Amino acid sequence: MNLVVQATAPSNIALIKYMGKTSHSENRPSNASLSWSLKHLTSMVQVEFTSDKGDKWEPLRLEEGYHAPSLSKKGQQRFLSHFQFLKKKMGISGSYIVRSGNNFPSDCGVASSASSFAALTKAAWALAKEKQLSGIMTREELSCLSRHGSGSSCRSLFTGWARWENEGAKECLYPLQTLEHTLILLDDKKKDISSSEAHKRVTTSLKFKGRTKRATERLAHLEEALQNSDWKQVYKTSLEEFEDMHELFETSNPPFSYRNQQSRDITRWVEEFWKLHEDGPVITMDAGANVHLLWRQDQLSIARQLLSEVTDRCPEVRLLQSPGWKDSF
Ligand code: DP6
Repeated sequence: MNLVVQATAPSNIALIKYMGKTSHSENRPSNASLSWSLKHLTSMVQVEFTSDKGDKWEPLRLEEGYHAPSLSKKGQQRFLSHFQFLKKKMGISGSYIVRSGNNFPSDCGVASSASSFAALTKAAWALAKEKQLSGIMTREELSCLSRHGSGSSCRSLFTGWARWENEGAKECLYPLQTLEHTLILLDDKKKDISSSEAHKRVTTSLKFKGRTKRATERLAHLEEALQNSDWKQVYKTSLEEFEDMHELFETSNPPFSYRNQQSRDITRWVEEFWKLHEDGPVITMDAGANVHLLWRQDQLSIARQLLSEVTDRCPEVRLLQSPGWKDSF
């Protein structure tokens, strides 16, 4: 029986975004970022020794709740080249079959690169441990390695809040540690512009000047708000930040956009909801059209109210709800 190891890692959603790099080859960010990990949206990676020559990628065979993604040739090469980087760093020799899959459908518009690259980094380390090649590696050290595969994956080594500055991310123990997450799915198509390409394109926007300063100041505000559990300030800062990132996309040369009319409408409804109730969700968007909402646990009744308004107005949207509230809608 061949040696097989496996690991899982969660996806994450940034409230202060990693957008723009100082090094594209090493995924060094122009600014520090901060994210919440999405424990219900995970990737699994299995690594199996093979006597064949060379590493290869395969979709994960059906494991409970996991779906195999359809990874393009380019995507497979990128994944394997990160595995080869990890093998070198950890002194692993031999050839392996690398299998990956996600517990969320690959057609649902959730970027899986953060979770899958983090799971691959953890799987390589599990292999190194199995072969007694590596001593203890901390999550922070693994985070630094994972960054090389895909920047945002360095925050997926942690549960809860993770802050990434320079080499890798660290866990942050703010008082708000139990949140619910709703993904409002508006578009499940593959993006025309990948986030790696977006990192390059935003530097052509006139608004990129000052971006590092804006993101750094916002991060300080956000951290203060999280320290004080000031939910309204978390909401305001997160709203400003994702709008800033999308404006960078929309003022790039040539311009491009991930937002559609529904993402704009839902953002407006959330803002109106806050004005009316002096309470509401934290809203953010990634490099895509879908809308992410974060809720405190005591907000179930207003979450029901807002989400039923959204589904009444846009009956075709799909909601992906974190497990804590899954059966409550
Ligand atoms: C918009 O981590 O996907 O999601 O390092 O080139 O793989 P690469 O980029 P990636 O960028 C993610 C950008 C973002 C914002 C964020 O997660 O911080």
